[in-house]
Amino acid sequence: MISIIGSGKVGTAIAFLCITNSLDDILFVNRTKSKAIGEALDISNAIPANSNVTIHGTDDFSKISGSNIVVITASTGTYLKSRTEMMDAQVKMIKEISNKIKKYCPSAIVLVVSNPLDVLTFIFQKETQFSRNKVIGIASSLDSSRFRYLLSEKFGIKQSQITDALVMGEHGDSMVPIFSRVKINGKNVSEMLNDSDKKTISTETQNYWRSLRLLKTRSEFGIAKNTFDVIRAIIDNDELVIPASIVLNGEYGEKDVALGIPVKINKNGIKEIIEIKLNEQENKLLKISAQTIRNYIKSL
Ligand SMILES: NC(=O)c1ccc[n+]([C@@H]2O[C@H](COP(=O)([O-])OP(=O)(O)OC[C@H]3O[C@@H](n4cnc5c(N)ncnc54)[C@H](OP(=O)(O)O)[C@@H]3O)[C@@H](O)[C@H]2O)c1
Repeated sequence: MISIIGSGKVGTAIAFLCITNSLDDILFVNRTKSKAIGEALDISNAIPANSNVTIHGTDDFSKISGSNIVVITASTGTYLKSRTEMMDAQVKMIKEISNKIKKYCPSAIVLVVSNPLDVLTFIFQKETQFSRNKVIGIASSLDSSRFRYLLSEKFGIKQSQITDALVMGEHGDSMVPIFSRVKINGKNVSEMLNDSDKKTISTETQNYWRSLRLLKTRSEFGIAKNTFDVIRAIIDNDELVIPASIVLNGEYGEKDVALGIPVKINKNGIKEIIEIKLNEQENKLLKISAQTIRNYIKSL
């Protein structure tokens, strides 16, 4: 069973993908019980006719017992200017949720989706003392999707012609698009862009959510697909390589912080942390990003 904490926009979009692909049974746990039940009732009509999966809703955390995967998409409100705007309320919320997950699902793999992503991933792991390989913050893969989209628009090409578009670091303003690895039809993109182009694309990647917010209330489908891919990799024991937030213990020279770095995911959670070679500027920006997240954690 997959338990999804929070049946708002993101939680329901993830559940819809899981259900239509018959991945596993879904349980929504939402603060407002009627919303959990209502969303489950709606999505239950999307279960394929030949499928055995089920979907239900509750406000009772004890029902998550036995879940192999728990996805946290709960949110206490909507931020307007920065993902860290509601940090105190979100940290209080994740502490409460982490106690319940620890009590009812001590062996689960936990995917953190709620913001501020890296801070909450760190707090969850520290509160529960779950193995850091089982606490995965999902966001850098979404940021990488956005980076790939912006590059495809810049060059007027299909996204499929772009490989290794990777964003590391904070799911926030200090995120680091890694230009040195991106290839277009096999050619290094760094040679096709000048510094000013790179700066513009970096800023557009960091501000993608702000541009989107001018046109719709909040994003849901991109993060849902990226989270679904991770859930499927865990269930199918595929080896999926994506950037995700994990508590670091010396990797990339960082400790006491969680941030987005490339990892390999399989049925056990994070099987391997991948340390890639970055250029001097990217290394410097990643250090700044790690320090930004650490400062948020220290300010709590
Ligand atoms: N990682 C990423 O890349 C990414 C991308 C997009 C969004 N996000 C984040 O994902 C989160 C969810 O976004 P959203 O648009 O889905 O928000 P939303 O529509 O407001 O849904 C949040 C849901 O969480 C529920 N909730 C609040 N506290 C809870 C608790 N203690 N236990 C159980 N449920 C609780 C709310 O219940 P009520 O019905 O009572 O209000 C609400 O249904 C936000 O933090 C957002 O910033 C992350």
